[in-house]
Amino acid sequence: MLNNKTVVLGVTGSIAAYKAAEIASQLTQAGAKVNVIMTKEAVQFVSAITFRALTGRPVVTEMFDLASEFSIEHVSLAKSADIVVIAPATANIIARLAAGISDDMVCCTVLATKAPVIIAPAMETNMYDSPITQDNLCELKARGFVIIGPSVGWLASGKEGLGRLADIDEILESIRQISGRDGDLAGKHIVVTAGGTQEPIDPVRCIVNRSSGKMGYALAEAARDRGAEVSLVTAPASSAPATGVDIIRVGTAEEMCHAVESVAPKADALIMAAAVADYRPKSPSREKIKRGGSGLTLELECTRDILGTVKGNLIKVGFAAETSNLVGNAREKLKQKGLDLIVANDITASDSGFGTDTNRVTVIDKKGGLDSLPLLTKREVAERILDRVAQLLVEPESRLQSKH
Ligand code: CTP
Repeated sequence: MLNNKTVVLGVTGSIAAYKAAEIASQLTQAGAKVNVIMTKEAVQFVSAITFRALTGRPVVTEMFDLASEFSIEHVSLAKSADIVVIAPATANIIARLAAGISDDMVCCTVLATKAPVIIAPAMETNMYDSPITQDNLCELKARGFVIIGPSVGWLASGKEGLGRLADIDEILESIRQISGRDGDLAGKHIVVTAGGTQEPIDPVRCIVNRSSGKMGYALAEAARDRGAEVSLVTAPASSAPATGVDIIRVGTAEEMCHAVESVAPKADALIMAAAVADYRPKSPSREKIKRGGSGLTLELECTRDILGTVKGNLIKVGFAAETSNLVGNAREKLKQKGLDLIVANDITASDSGFGTDTNRVTVIDKKGGLDSLPLLTKREVAERILDRVAQLLVEPESRLQSKH
């Protein structure tokens, strides 16, 4: 998502300035052109050479540096930016930005840019809690700045408290999310389901499956980064869902069904990556079932087929986790459930399917088209699925015609 994006990273004088090096590095690795501006206080903490080496770009430390490629027009950095990030942001820079002061390159750039601006504060708890800093942050928020953090943790004073720079991952997620605001899914509402449902047997036991939720979470994150409004209906999963998506937590297949029914009618697409139980215990016990002398027989009943029964003229994408006859079974499900696309994966492979970070899938459409993708990370698979969804969303006519 950050390929060819220009990120201006403003680094100010906090002990957390060293963490900005990791941000610069990760943004550069993600394909962004990273222009770092350092205040003179920041240079006391980390050398400009660090950022020069990590980004492969000139680093601005002076307002009027005749050797810099940006010095001809001192607001050129502001113009070229797709996004401006101030991390870490001290109480001082927050105050100066709120007041519109433009006496250094960070302030000048923020004042002059039309790009979205993210501020990641880092300071002592008392400075952060000060009504002056809080007023300044409110002022910036009201003007559309995005404030990330701070978090609670170990501070330079040797105490624990609020004021620590937000997690690098959280800052990077926000950068991806905000820079994707005008992506190909902007204005679209995508519902993604994830995780494995749990069907109670008694108060302590349930029927579960091996889904980790990783594929669904990757889809939700990728859709968010392409500008979509995302509702993530999630059954229990092993990782944390992305920020910036609307999370609806469910346990059972029935709860997932209700949640999907409540959000799907207004949505443009539903992607069912969840592993939904097909059967549940018919009469879950209210009391813990005690060990008996003989065996135990559980009577199971069918759950509802969420994807096959959901109402609305939305694009429907299903997953088919198969152990045999991959394409045949997937095609049958696509037809039965009235889907636009089905993503088939062979879960017998060790590098694909449940719990892994990679997946090898075949995407099948209702016209019979079949696209066998190589082994990819789940995020890459998510992007390829969303490419197809985005295409279907811009060609609604072809979708309707092929329905008849
Ligand atoms: N699915 C659903 N509701 C269910 C079961 C499955 O919406 N009660 C969805 C899954 O999220 C997936 C697709 O249907 O996107 C196919 O799921 P899968 O379990 O492979 O198919 P089933 O229809 O349950 O068929 P089977 O288990 O017999 O292979």
